[in-house]
Amino acid sequence: MPDQTVLVAIDIGTTKVCVLIGEVGGRAGSVDVIGIGQAPSDGLRKGVVVDIDRTVQSVAAAVDAAERLSGLKVRSAFVGISGSHIGSQNSKGMVAVSSRQHEIQRDDTLRAIENARAVSIPNTREILHVIPRGYVVDNNAGVRDPIGMSAVRLEVETHIVTASTTSVQNLSKCVQRAGIEIDELVLAPLATAEALLSDEDRELGVVLCDIGGDTTDVAVFQDGSISHCATIPMGARSVTSDLGLVLRVTPETAESLKLKQGTALPLKVDPDEVIQITSIGEDQPRPITRRHVAQIIEARTAELFDHVAREIEAAGATNRLQAGLALTGGGSLLTGISQAARDQLGMSARVLAPDGLGGLTDSISTPPYAASSGLLIWGAKNWTVEGEREGGGRSLDNVGGRIAKIFRGLMP
Ligand SMILES: Nc1ncnc2c1ncn2[C@@H]1O[C@H](COP(=O)(O)OP(=O)(O)OP(=O)(O)O)[C@@H](O)[C@H]1O
Ligand SMILES: [Mg+2]
Repeated sequence: MPDQTVLVAIDIGTTKVCVLIGEVGGRAGSVDVIGIGQAPSDGLRKGVVVDIDRTVQSVAAAVDAAERLSGLKVRSAFVGISGSHIGSQNSKGMVAVSSRQHEIQRDDTLRAIENARAVSIPNTREILHVIPRGYVVDNNAGVRDPIGMSAVRLEVETHIVTASTTSVQNLSKCVQRAGIEIDELVLAPLATAEALLSDEDRELGVVLCDIGGDTTDVAVFQDGSISHCATIPMGARSVTSDLGLVLRVTPETAESLKLKQGTALPLKVDPDEVIQITSIGEDQPRPITRRHVAQIIEARTAELFDHVAREIEAAGATNRLQAGLALTGGGSLLTGISQAARDQLGMSARVLAPDGLGGLTDSISTPPYAASSGLLIWGAKNWTVEGEREGGGRSLDNVGGRIAKIFRGLMP
């Protein structure tokens, strides 16, 4: 059996931690899932770690489950990060083409990207990603792949994603204390996009919306790459708590009501359809209309899509996203949500489940696993094991470890 590379993804969500172990290269370029682990998560608020001990426990439990399923020991992982502390800015980098024939080499592009990285950011923040958006070769803008072209001067336009250093440290601590090294902290929507979006979607313009428990990650892709991202501090659990408050029912009752009877489209519900609910402190159920439940849900989804519209505006992408809205995350499973989005935002909308992985995908080919699936694909696309190309590889009982960044896959 040829040596294979094993990568690990950890998605630390506000409702669950999900760990995926993937084997890269079984078939050409493919990633096969060979381990899955999940544990409830309750150490985050609005997407940011507020209780390290509880989060460590969740990560450890999810890792443990994935290790038992795969029979492998996890040493390092790709970890998703998001939250309202994420910021981004554009930056240019310029270099003189170094070779005597003035033919652009990979090294020139790397130096240009390195150059773009030298922006001033506050000392409370750090750079997560420097994403090349396009190159200017001498005076010709809009070049996607400049390697091999002849030029004197190479300029790169990049999108720089930054994060609050303390949020990065707290998230990192949770992973490290669970005994796992971090291969890379990856902006969650960038990873998620790998499992959902085609190159064409990104080219046409698309807004990715991952509706999780307490947060909704929004990322706008235009002209092939990410142009804006934000985290909205509300999600599917906000719908549950609204139902709990308005109908005075327990969180469990509210959740089950949402999952079994909920819809974001009250007008599609028969106004006479009645359901029985038991409020807190009462022993007799009382009748309410299912349409009323839908109206409570609709109020929240409308507020959420209002925020999404504002982010699209902030990206300068209003009326420019031909591939529309791509919904994912557990919240995208709410009945009627894509129709509600279409009606409100006036653009096409679809619910997407992760795609592109092989192996044990039966239980993870659904929207809540878009981020963890995307992290595995991101890892396989952007990283290689050191020495792998010399035929080294690693044995499968030693998962994760020393890997070297390759710049393949960063360009759209
Ligand atoms: N069929 C469904 N209908 C409506 N909501 C659903 C459905 N299935 C799951 N959800 C909701 O999805 C939410 C969890 O989504 P998900 O697993 O994507 O969150 P997370 O990744 O843990 O959180 P986050 O992305 O905010 O960090 C829960 O609030 C749950 O109620
Ligand atoms: Mg999530």
